[in-house]
This record gives sequence, structure tokens and C-alpha cells, in this order.
Amino acid sequence: MGTSAEDAVQVEERDARFILGTYKRTSFHPRTGKGAKLVDASGKVYWDLLAGIAVNALGYRHPRLVKAMKEEASNLLHVSNLFYHPAQGLLAERLVALSGFPKVFFCNTGTEATEAALKLTRLATPGKSRMIALEGGFHGRTMGALALTGNEGYRTPFEPLVGRTVFLPPNDVAALNAAVTPDTSAIFLEPILGEGGIVPLTPEYVAAARAAADRVGASLVFDEVQSGLGRTGHVFVFQELGVTPDLVTLAKPLGGGLPLGAVLVGPKIAALVKAGQHGTTFGGNPVACRLGLVLLDEVVNGGLLAKIRETGEWFGKKLRSAKRRSKGAIVDVRGRGLMWGVELDRDAAEVQKKLLEKGFVVGTSRTNVLRLLPPYVVPRPALSGFIQALEEILREAPVASKEKTS
Ligand SMILES: Cc1ncc(COP(=O)(O)O)c(C=O)c1O
Repeated sequence: MGTSAEDAVQVEERDARFILGTYKRTSFHPRTGKGAKLVDASGKVYWDLLAGIAVNALGYRHPRLVKAMKEEASNLLHVSNLFYHPAQGLLAERLVALSGFPKVFFCNTGTEATEAALKLTRLATPGKSRMIALEGGFHGRTMGALALTGNEGYRTPFEPLVGRTVFLPPNDVAALNAAVTPDTSAIFLEPILGEGGIVPLTPEYVAAARAAADRVGASLVFDEVQSGLGRTGHVFVFQELGVTPDLVTLAKPLGGGLPLGAVLVGPKIAALVKAGQHGTTFGGNPVACRLGLVLLDEVVNGGLLAKIRETGEWFGKKLRSAKRRSKGAIVDVRGRGLMWGVELDRDAAEVQKKLLEKGFVVGTSRTNVLRLLPPYVVPRPALSGFIQALEEILREAPVASKEKTS
């Protein structure tokens, strides 16, 4: 592994030559880190306010994750799903206890969790393929998950996709009620749209979705891949919203940094599933499940939920007062807990680049939104430092907004 700036140049050259060009990467080379800090190949230290897009919830080199990883890896790195391994059952037991859902299906990624959920909804509504999802929603990029993803740029080159999806504007109850018809199989919602610009759904909207699904016998699926497992200061967003879906998809932080996804399966659908109807070679890997147990323990018993809620309230206030001072440069701030979108009057990618130069790693969504998904262990100085750096950047001449195509 490279540890110098020269190595970084070589890494980029090799990447350009040999790796399929699906990613538009930023020239940033994290090599190590601790807590919410990342260190790049030249030794420069950054506050990480993105956490590998909501994966590294406990930050870097968390002692319990490192210990569990070492212990489990010294046994078996993989056990087939034809056989038994205790870590899977223990993690499922924990997820069941925390969620009140009776069963769990393990996979590796958020996309696979969407695919599994999509298949499971078909068991509940045989022969029906009409689905409802949200404009700006994101559920993954395989053919089924893509069919539910409300971004035309992602979908169009790969059509025809699976099923027939009607995309609706978020939080429009009337549009939802009109769109849910007796041939509707499922409603897929992110309770807080991540890729779509950090758009929280209202409790009224998700309650209306539950009622509409019940009216026609459709399944309600919550995609909590980005927003779940503590990010809002609650283990599950559905619990916070007071609505119980039929399926909940999880991934990102679940494996403590290793690939691990899951679907929480409600009683109605769980009763329909027969052996052989779905499966995976790698899903529920023993090391990933072991790390998942550490993650949940830290989130639930380590005081992180209260810390996330308190930090979120404090940060929300700080962001809103920055908005008031910004003379229109900050158009909106949305979110809660440690999931925030800062909508700008200009191209977010340019601001993101300048923030990186100032030592802050952030994401973007849509064209004009900075996306913040810091590790749960982020200290307040990292967040106030971000606001100060952002204000400095926004005081400079604005960069014209460009339309993003993908
Ligand atoms: C809400 C949501 N669902 C699904 C996915 C797909 O997850 P993965 O990239 O692990 O396949 C993502 C990824 O960003 C996501 O944010």
C-alpha cells in the first residue's frame, strides 16, 4: 500500500488503465485514520464527514471492531449458507429483538437487500408487478433495484427494467393515494432520501403509505440502507416515524465496514417463504456478522443514540444560523441526527472540492446539495470547523451551477 504522494500518482494511473470507468473519483487517497479522522497518502489529516457514504459509523480503527475482526478472522473467513455459524443467528436475534420483526435475511449489500425485498413482495402479491417509488429515490443499480430508482439518468440506458414503477414526488399524499391502485404490488420508500438530496419523509406521508398499501393489499418497504442503524439517533427510522412496514432493508454500517446487508421480514411475508426461493453464497459472512454485533452493541448500549440526537439538534441549529448569515448562498438545510443536506445556490461539487482542500471530507447529492453522513463518533469541533470552512468558501465568488447528468 502506498504511503507517499508519489504512490498516489501511481495509484491513479493504474486505476485509469485497468479499472472500468464507472466511477468519477476524487483525487483523494485515504490510507489510515482514527475515530472521525482520516489521513491521506501524504500524511494530511482530515475530518471525515462522509464515513464511506454512511458505512464507517464507528469511525476508523475502533478497538472493538479491530479486536473482533482479528479474533473471527483467525477462525473461518467464510462458512457456506448450507451449514451453520453462530454469528449469523446471534446478529439476527439481535436485529429481531431491536426491531420486533420476526425474521432476517442476510445478504452483502444494499442493492442485494433491495433485490431480495423486491422478490419477497412478489410472493405476497403474485402476478402483480406495478410498483410505487419516489422521484429522487435510490435503491441500487441492478436491474430490479434500478427499476425502483427515481433517477432517469441512471435508468434510461439500461431499459427495459423489471416491473412497472410509478415515481411520485416525496411527501405528496394526494399523489400517493391516487397512484396506489389494486394492481400495485409494493411501495418502496427511503424514509429520508439520501441520494435524492436528504429529503425526510413526514410522519403523515409514511402513515398514508401504510394505509394505501393496506387498502389494496400491497407491501410497504422501507429502505433504511443509508438512514437506518442509528444515523437519526434511533436504531430504525420506522420506529421513530411510528409506522411498521412489511420489509426493511439495511446495509452500509451493518457489517462494521465489511459488506453486509439484511432484510427485516414481517410476519405476513415470512410465512410465505420456502427453502430455495432465495439465497446467496456470501451473505451473512461470519466475520461481518461478528462486526455487526459490535456495531449494534456500541449503537444501542454505548450511548451513541443519545449522542447522535443531541449532536444533531445542536448541529441543525448551527446550520440554520449559518443559513441566515449566508445571504442566500445556503438555500436550505434538511436532516436530523447525523444525516444532513445543505442545499446551496451553486454547484456542490466545486464547494466539496474546496472543503477537501480545507481538510473536510463531505459528499454531494443532486447538483446543489452537500451531503453529510459523519461517523457516529464525530466530535462537535469537526462539525463547527466544517461550518466555518463552508462559510469561508461561500463568501468567495459563487460558481455557476451545472446540471448533473448522472
Ligand atoms: C438508500 C439506499 N439504498 C440502497 C443502496 C445500495 O446499496 P449498495 O451500494 O450497498 O448496493 C444505497 C447506496 O447508496 C442507498 O443509499
